[in-house]
Amino acid sequence: MINSHKFGHFLSTTALLFLVTVHSQPSSTVAVAPSTEANALLGWKSQLPNQSRALLSSWNESSAASLCSWEGLTCDAWRSVTGLNFSHVAINGTLQGLNFLSLPNLTAIVFINCSLSGGIPSTISNLSKLTTDDLGLNSFSGGFPAFLGYITSLQYLSLSDNCFTGTIPGSISTLTNLTYLNLNGNEFSGDLSSAIRLIGSLPLQILILASNNFTGSIPSSIGELTKLTHLYLSTNMLSGSIPTEIGNMSSLVKLWLQQNQFNGPIPLEIGKLGSLWQLDLSQNYLNGSIPSAVSNLTGLSYLYLYANQLSGVIPPDVGNMQSLYTFQLLSN
Ligand SMILES: *[C@@H]1O[C@H](CO)[C@@H](O)[C@H](O)[C@H]1NC(C)=O
Ligand SMILES: *[C@@H]1O[C@H](CO)[C@@H](O)[C@H](O)[C@H]1NC(C)=O
Ligand SMILES: *[C@@H]1O[C@H](CO)[C@@H](O)[C@H](O)[C@H]1NC(C)=O
Ligand SMILES: *[C@@H]1O[C@H](CO)[C@@H](O)[C@H](O)[C@H]1NC(C)=O
Ligand SMILES: *[C@@H]1O[C@H](CO)[C@@H](O)[C@H](O)[C@H]1NC(C)=O
Ligand SMILES: *[C@@H]1O[C@H](CO)[C@@H](O)[C@H](O)[C@H]1NC(C)=O
Ligand SMILES: *[C@@H]1O[C@H](CO)[C@@H](O)[C@H](O)[C@H]1NC(C)=O
Ligand SMILES: *[C@@H]1O[C@H](CO)[C@@H](O)[C@H](O)[C@H]1NC(C)=O
Ligand SMILES: *[C@@H]1O[C@H](CO)[C@@H](O)[C@H](O)[C@H]1NC(C)=O
Ligand SMILES: *[C@@H]1O[C@H](CO)[C@@H](O)[C@H](O)[C@H]1NC(C)=O
Ligand SMILES: *[C@@H]1O[C@H](CO)[C@@H](O)[C@H](O)[C@H]1NC(C)=O
Ligand SMILES: *[C@@H]1O[C@H](CO)[C@@H](O)[C@H](O)[C@H]1NC(C)=O
Repeated sequence: MINSHKFGHFLSTTALLFLVTVHSQPSSTVAVAPSTEANALLGWKSQLPNQSRALLSSWNESSAASLCSWEGLTCDAWRSVTGLNFSHVAINGTLQGLNFLSLPNLTAIVFINCSLSGGIPSTISNLSKLTTDDLGLNSFSGGFPAFLGYITSLQYLSLSDNCFTGTIPGSISTLTNLTYLNLNGNEFSGDLSSAIRLIGSLPLQILILASNNFTGSIPSSIGELTKLTHLYLSTNMLSGSIPTEIGNMSSLVKLWLQQNQFNGPIPLEIGKLGSLWQLDLSQNYLNGSIPSAVSNLTGLSYLYLYANQLSGVIPPDVGNMQSLYTFQLLSN
């Protein structure tokens, strides 16, 4: 931070600490050239529509010395920007003018419901410390940005509720620290088996692929996702039967498969999912009887089986399921 030879070795530790303090907290009355980080942010702001610039009034040249107090920013102890965090602010522009190369210490980028559109700049892939990228509830479009695969530090990625299309690229398999992936509410398409093959070796705990255009069936390799606690595949165009290997997903807490075209029986192996809390298989073409193994799920709170083609009797043990709060079986 300070070149010690400039001050000579005769300075006492106390004096040196004093100088460090003075230099690291420039007073706002002293003219300080905006840092490269401040310039990158001001450069982006200058390209936003007028009304959005008004929303970022704390971002201005005269306050650039206290950049860390700008709205939506967080910094590290060395006053370098580590987070950009906005929720429900109608920024209403694109990220194109944001030069991520000048913000190398970003660990989190959060723009939730900010009316952002366009594509994601590829310089985001140079953020080697980025762990969280949440771009949910905007109008971003285009294909899944394959260059996100370079951000191997990523742990949390949400592109939910945008206008993305196309298939999941192979580069996603390089995100070996990814525990959370949310692609809900886009128009991603392609075969679910291919997608599961790509993400199968990631340490995912939460996988949300609901409300997209995925097709094909659930591969038996789904059983290898033993760390997964939440699996949401609802509201797609999935078909085929539910593989028995689903019973190997021993960490599952929530399993949502509703609103697809699944057929065949409910596998008995579902009874092995001892941590299951919510099971929604509604609005499919499942047939056969409800396996009595379901009553083994003593922690189950929500069981939705309505709008299928199930038949037979309700297993009597279901009456002993202490936690069961809602059980819907209509239209079978
Ligand atoms: C935006 O603001 C600038 C001045 O800050 C003004 O010259 C320009 O006309 C404004 N544009 C619109 C579309 O309001
Ligand atoms: C510049 O930002 C500071 C806070 O960061 C704010 O107090 C000040 O009003 C802003 N100035 C303008 C001209 O908006
Ligand atoms: C990023 O952090 C490193 C390590 O703390 C620091 O040396 C560097 O100056 C920071 N970069 C910027 C642009 O502030
Ligand atoms: C973003 O800010 C919200 C509060 O406004 C906070 O709850 C959340 O943890 C922050 N996210 C990150 C990644 O810093
Ligand atoms: C999104 O943000 C707007 C304000 O810009 C707010 O009115 C709206 O309720 C938010 N939507 C959601 C789903 O949170
Ligand atoms: C967002 O931008 C579009 C086009 O630039 C404009 O029509 C719309 O009114 C803007 N919305 C807000 C909330 O500023
Ligand atoms: C940014 O990352 C890409 C992909 O890893 C690389 O090709 C490029 O050289 C990097 N650019 C800089 C300025 O580091
Ligand atoms: C992945 O996580 C581990 C453990 O937290 C960490 O040591 C490693 O550096 C991370 N990898 C990357 C590429 O950030
Ligand atoms: C996704 O499915 C919806 C509803 O079936 C359809 O309208 C839309 O065109 C599909 N999108 C793509 C990209 O296939
Ligand atoms: C996974 O499930 C299948 C079918 O239910 C079973 O035969 C297999 O032994 C299981 N594999 C593991 C590793 O538990
Ligand atoms: C019932 O649950 C236990 C413990 O979770 C499990 O070991 C057993 O295989 C389950 N039985 C059936 C029939 O699913
Ligand atoms: C379930 O439906 C399949 C055709 O999709 C049929 O072959 C099978 O016999 C049905 N099973 C039962 C128990 O109704």
